[in-house]
Amino acid sequence: MNDLPGPAEPLDISFNEDALDTLSAAFTRYGDAFKIFSPEINAYIGVFSHPDHVRQVFVDNHANYTKGIGIERVRILLGNGIMASEGDTWRRQRKLIQPAFHRSVIARMFEHIRAGNIALRDRWLAHARDGREINLTQDLSDVTLNVVVNSIFGDDMAAIASTDGRHPFALLTEDSERNLQFAYKFRALSKLVMECVNRRREGELGNDLLGMLLAGRDRRTNDAMSDKLLIDEVLTLVVAGHETTASALNWFWYLLARHPQVEMRLHDEVDRWNEDGADLNSVAQLTYTRQVLDETMRLYPPGWLLTRRSIGADTVGQHPIAAGTNVFLSPYLIHRHPAFWENPETFDPDRFAPAQAAQRNRFCYLPFALGPRACIGEQFALVEMAAHAALLARKLRLRYLRPQPVAMECQVNLRPRQNIYMQVEERQ
Ligand code: HEM
Repeated sequence: MNDLPGPAEPLDISFNEDALDTLSAAFTRYGDAFKIFSPEINAYIGVFSHPDHVRQVFVDNHANYTKGIGIERVRILLGNGIMASEGDTWRRQRKLIQPAFHRSVIARMFEHIRAGNIALRDRWLAHARDGREINLTQDLSDVTLNVVVNSIFGDDMAAIASTDGRHPFALLTEDSERNLQFAYKFRALSKLVMECVNRRREGELGNDLLGMLLAGRDRRTNDAMSDKLLIDEVLTLVVAGHETTASALNWFWYLLARHPQVEMRLHDEVDRWNEDGADLNSVAQLTYTRQVLDETMRLYPPGWLLTRRSIGADTVGQHPIAAGTNVFLSPYLIHRHPAFWENPETFDPDRFAPAQAAQRNRFCYLPFALGPRACIGEQFALVEMAAHAALLARKLRLRYLRPQPVAMECQVNLRPRQNIYMQVEERQ
């Protein structure tokens, strides 16, 4: 990376509040490829933002990269689940888990998505009537967590939840810290998962996501996954399947409230949508809603920074990098790259209309990453978010009445720095 320019200012990779500002400023000054020094690892990190770089690292030469900086923190929480594992373990586990995200399984999970969002709608409508603001961030965290835990545990949720309907996984929404103390409390949920697994093994495996994981067999050896990995995978799905979706939906409502023209077109579409026959196929008809969600994740990609480490030497663009180099590819920077996006700071869902999208380099949009290590839950998340948007926007609109704009917090996830509060208006 000797050839790369870069700022004198070092980067704090504990991701304090200004990591994104530092990276954005360097991107504006140095462009597609620069290096930045990290005192913590006493080495330079290469920051690459051209679609050709995306293609090289995630697709063409993906086998030359492992997960990079920050993965140790993820591992404390998620153990050796597929988010954090590498090599043969990752490959075997990904194959075992993939069937749980087949379209037919998502179709079965749709009822959880529908029921969770209708219950949320009823609560928000009650707020519309008595004029109290909603805590959007908290409510979205609750609903996405409930959808994912219900999809994983199915009928067992009744046994897991206490009489007031709360369940132990709620600590994920009650505690927004993601430090060691949190990891300790979170890992204690392993016991609960194992009790559930043991009950299933004595009876039916179930046809929810946990049932699919229990039934999965390695094609070569016919082995099921170990108990330790099973727990890690379940906890991985709970975390990965809820925080990202919740973040994206926070930004969705915030942007919608600030763009009445977009809101009007979205209302026009969801009003014509038949909610009673809602299923996977009918959600696919919500084409403008999907464009709004795509554009939301362009401006605010929940996975705003993807980190990798090279195994052997490589050339990214024209730039040689040595074995063991840490590289960053930031969907946030790439999604706002002025050479590939016209007026990149403007919220414009028409960018994702088929004719416009077809003209774009497909490696400059990667909210779910790309290549073999892309998000396993992409289709699940897209269905969940579109159904959420349609079910709620049919009956209500959210108003953001606070004077200050919502600031971003860039930890593992790009989420609002503070909870967003909104006023609910019932639509006639
Ligand atoms: C809007 C919602 C979502 C976004 C933006 C998102 C984004 C991402 C991204 C960017 C990655 C790659 C991370 C990396 O390479 O470092 C990823 C991986 C992953 N996601 Fe998602 N995700 C979302 C929803 C979900 C859902 C709903 C689930 C499961 C229920 C899920 C499960 C996973 C898992 C297990 C991985 C690791 C895959 C692997 O390494 O093989 N995600 N996600």
